[in-house]
Amino acid sequence: MSLPAQSAESAKPAMEPAQRVAALRQEIEQHDHAYYVLDAPTIPDAEYDRLFRELRALELEHPQLNSADSPTQRVGGKPLPEFSPVRHGVPMLSIRTETDTEASGARAFDGRVRRELELNDADAAIEYAVELKFDGLAISLRYESGLLVRAATRGDGETGEDVTQNIRTVRRIPLHLSGVAPALLEVRGEVFISRPDFERYNARQRDLGRATLVNPRNGAAGSIRQLDPAVAAERPLSFFAYGLGECIGWKLPVTHSGVLDALAEFGLPVCEHRAVVKGADGLIDFHARIRAMRDELSFDIDGVVYKVNSLALQQRLGFVTREPRWAVAHKYPAEEALTTVEAIEVQVGRTGAITPVARLAPVFVGGVTVTNATLHNEAEARRKDVRVGDTVIVRRAGDVIPEVVSVVMEKRPGTDQADGGGMHPAFELPKACPVCGSAIERPEDEAIARCTGGLFCPAQRKQALLHFASRRAMDIEGLGDKLVEQLVDNAIIKTPADLYKMGLLAIVNLERMAEKSAGNILAAIEKSKTTTLARFIFALGIRNVGEATAKDLARHFGSLDGLMAADSDHLQQVPDVGPIVASSVVRFFAEPHNIEVIEQLRAGGVSWPEGAPMESVSSFITGKTFVLTGTLPTLTRDEAKDMIEALGGKVAGSVSKKTDYVVAGAEAGSKLDKAQGLGVTILDEKQFRELLEQ
Ligand code: IVH
Repeated sequence: MSLPAQSAESAKPAMEPAQRVAALRQEIEQHDHAYYVLDAPTIPDAEYDRLFRELRALELEHPQLNSADSPTQRVGGKPLPEFSPVRHGVPMLSIRTETDTEASGARAFDGRVRRELELNDADAAIEYAVELKFDGLAISLRYESGLLVRAATRGDGETGEDVTQNIRTVRRIPLHLSGVAPALLEVRGEVFISRPDFERYNARQRDLGRATLVNPRNGAAGSIRQLDPAVAAERPLSFFAYGLGECIGWKLPVTHSGVLDALAEFGLPVCEHRAVVKGADGLIDFHARIRAMRDELSFDIDGVVYKVNSLALQQRLGFVTREPRWAVAHKYPAEEALTTVEAIEVQVGRTGAITPVARLAPVFVGGVTVTNATLHNEAEARRKDVRVGDTVIVRRAGDVIPEVVSVVMEKRPGTDQADGGGMHPAFELPKACPVCGSAIERPEDEAIARCTGGLFCPAQRKQALLHFASRRAMDIEGLGDKLVEQLVDNAIIKTPADLYKMGLLAIVNLERMAEKSAGNILAAIEKSKTTTLARFIFALGIRNVGEATAKDLARHFGSLDGLMAADSDHLQQVPDVGPIVASSVVRFFAEPHNIEVIEQLRAGGVSWPEGAPMESVSSFITGKTFVLTGTLPTLTRDEAKDMIEALGGKVAGSVSKKTDYVVAGAEAGSKLDKAQGLGVTILDEKQFRELLEQ
């Protein structure tokens, strides 16, 4: 005879309150760990809230069951009049910073370590634990018999401030350690705010009309140094452990990486982006790998940290003043810098989009000299309240377009009587296009204002031509900004079709154009006549039709005429084409001017192989997203991409939770690391081919 399984609900009343409280605490802690440390939530928020409420109700009902390490006790304290000083048993040191951001910086460190250890070239490479340099506030957590009893800031390294109440609000920090905990364990690490948490927090604050945080780093430091723990509790703080302070009753691992593994075992969050490497080459490799993925990280870093892995060698190396000889922070070029705004202008994009742009005094940031920074749109420009003469923070991260982060209000001219009061008025979007004079309009529900001039507007015409000629479209080599500018300004071309009609003479007569390069351009234009349907569709510059959509459309319809004849319903049968894209396509082909240009292009000799319309290919690969990284033994990246797309799969540029497969070859870098971190299936070329054959 079998009994129906007993559910948690029916088990509940049978349990003693003390047992139920203990069970609830354990369950909530497990969910907290999964959510905050492992980043892999195990239950829906509503269910979590239900457990939490049940625990709180039981604790209220049975005050004798209260305990300082209950998950309900994270915010309990009252505002403090001030923080009490805490003396660190083991001082909190700082790390020497290597300001040489190139590979030579890593070599210099390895060289110093080897010299100190009196090694010569014949001796083996040193093993290093390498990790990220987090950009927040250093904290020391004191666990006695596994219980969090105190948390302190670094202060001057000898004496910090007792911020226990605030630290208890940080969900990522366990109130007690799991497993068999030492009598005393001091854990050191960094409290920080992730970028998405920061954006979300500020968006909410703005909605509520409350003050926002200036940047994640100040936000983290300011939150921990709040006297009112209720305020700290509202801030989305995170934490990573990176080292130890005082320890009693624990057999120390022999390496730093072993220490971090042990801390993770105790339930503390330790960043996954760490490694053990050998010698200067290993350091350089890690520095480059992290640099390549810096923008994909969800939090800010300003470099990486190298630590001699062996704790015995660390001891031998010791300290100079307040800095250990066994560690160094190797920086990256700063992504933010201060400069001044010389003018605010608007730019007109290919589809007429009006973008306010700040012209800046040249400043070196993110590895290049920046003179312009985007203000995105009217609303953003107003929100940031950027004005001519302002000192601003500009940010250039990776290949992203430089942007104005914020104004340094204290430096605004006119706010200080001494400078004669030269404050400029707030930015206003012009009513007419600065290029063609057509009206600028912004639909009610959109953030972007547009010039209504269409291809009458030379700015839009130039952008449309540049797009048409771009590498992934018609791929006309040599037809760049300057030339398009001259061709349009001299009325030599108006539409893409004119490109195929112009002769050598027209180009040679342009300023600074040699006969040879004019010939090269004409040859490139000639060559571009033989193309593919997908490239041609993409080149047309239909709004909302990017490269991937153009490929989908080409595959589905097989011919341009088929596409041109399609109505919205038919278009929406194409994977990933929704009503917005469909309506853009229909509107584009409803415009007689566009049809005329297309006919002229075809008459001018632009052609591509056409096929039969494809009834939606469906394979095992359909709808799956691949990321290619590294060098495959026999396939080029384009070949692999074509194979995937032919079976209805997609190829993305970066790894995310949505990636189904990563195909990795030799020298695969950060994408492979990220895939491993996310548990994405990784294939080599052989496995990839097998998958496609299925
Ligand atoms: S170890 C003995 N590791 O950098 C070395 N510090 O100047 C002690 N920091 O404010 C520090 N990431 O908070 C270490 N992975 C990391 C770090 C790190 C950031 C901060 C630390 C301190 C500063 C050191």
